[in-house]
Amino acid sequence: MTTPIPAADTLEADLLAAVAAVDTLDALEAVRVSALGKKGRITGQMKRLGGLDPDARREAGQALNAVKDAVAAALEARKAELAQAALAARLEAERVDVSLPIRPRPVGRIHPISQTIDEMIAIFADMGFEVAEGPDIEDDFHNFTALNMPPEHPARQMHDTFYLPDAQDGTARVLRTHTSPVQVRTMVGGTPPIRVVCPGRTYRSDYDMTHTPMFHQIEGLVIDEATHMGHLKGCLVEFCRAFFGIDDLPLRFRPSFFPFTEPSAEVDIGCSRTGGELKLGNHGDWLEILGCGMVHPKVLEMCGIDSTRYQGFAFGMGIERPAMLKYGIPDLRTFFDADLRWLKHYGFLPLDMPSLARGLNA
Ligand code: DAH
Repeated sequence: MTTPIPAADTLEADLLAAVAAVDTLDALEAVRVSALGKKGRITGQMKRLGGLDPDARREAGQALNAVKDAVAAALEARKAELAQAALAARLEAERVDVSLPIRPRPVGRIHPISQTIDEMIAIFADMGFEVAEGPDIEDDFHNFTALNMPPEHPARQMHDTFYLPDAQDGTARVLRTHTSPVQVRTMVGGTPPIRVVCPGRTYRSDYDMTHTPMFHQIEGLVIDEATHMGHLKGCLVEFCRAFFGIDDLPLRFRPSFFPFTEPSAEVDIGCSRTGGELKLGNHGDWLEILGCGMVHPKVLEMCGIDSTRYQGFAFGMGIERPAMLKYGIPDLRTFFDADLRWLKHYGFLPLDMPSLARGLNA
C-alpha cells in the first residue's frame, strides 16, 4: 500500500484560503506556483497517482482534478479583482481636475509683428486668399527683372538693395527688397486662378527714425480672367476697415507708378493730425499706407501667364506702420530691440489668436 493521497477537500480549502489571503499580484503568483507549479502541491500529488491501484487512482485523480480546477478558477478570479483594484488605485492617484483654470501666466508673448501678420492673414483668408512664402535671399530675376525692372532700370536705385556675392552659377543675389518676388514665384509655379497673400521679411540699406534695414511687408496677388480694378478697390477697402476695426474708414486711391503694375495707385486712409496726435477715421486728412495696381502684362508674360487671357491685381504694404497705428506703438525701432519689458507691454498672449469669428480686436 502506498501513502494515501491527503484528503482533497483539505488541500482545496488550504489553497483557496491562501488565494483569498493575498493582496498583491506578486503574492498571488507565488501562491499559483506553490499550488500548480512544477514543484507545487497539486502537481506533487498528481505525480503520486501512479503508485495507486487503478480504482483508487481514478478516484483520487478525479478529486485532484476538481481541486486543480477550483484553485485555477479562484486564482483567475482573484487576479481580476487585484487588477481592478490596481486600476482603481491608479485612477485615483492620477486624477486630474479638469475644472481647474489654466495657469494664469503663460510663458512668453507674441511679438506685435507676428500678431499683426496673423490678423492680416485672417482677414485675407476669410476672403479666400491662401498664404504663399518665398526666400529672403532672392535672385536678381525674381526681385527685379521679372517685375519689369530690367538691369539699369532707374526704379532699382530706389530700393537701396543689399547685394550678396553671386551664386556659383553666376546669378546675382540680393536680400529681397520687397515681397513682390513671391508674386513672381507664385505665377511661375502655378496656374490661374491665383489668390495669395505673401507676408515676410524684407531688407533695404536704410536706417533712421522711420526706417530699419530689416522690415516686413505683405503682398497680395489675384489673377483670373476678368479680375479688374473694382475688385482691387473692394478688397482693399474691406481689408483696411476690418484691420483697423473702423467701419467707415475712408480710402483714397491716388494715381501712382510702379514698374510692375499698370495702372498703379497708392492708397491713403482717412486720419486727423490735430494736436500732434494721429487718429484714424473720417477726419479729412490722409495717410498713405499701401501701393497697388493691375499686374503689368509684361510681368504676366515673364512669369509664363498668357496676358491675353488673364489679368489681375497686386498690392503691397508694410507691416510695421499699420501695427504702430493700430496698437499705439510710437517708435519703429523698438520692434527690433528685443527688449523684454517692451514685449511684455506691447506683446500678445499666445491664446489671443486673431480670428474674424471672435472679432479681430477682441
Ligand atoms: N513692392 C512695392 C514696394 O516695396 C509695393 C507694391 C506696390 C507691391 C504695388 C505691389 C504693388 O504688389 O502692386 O514698394
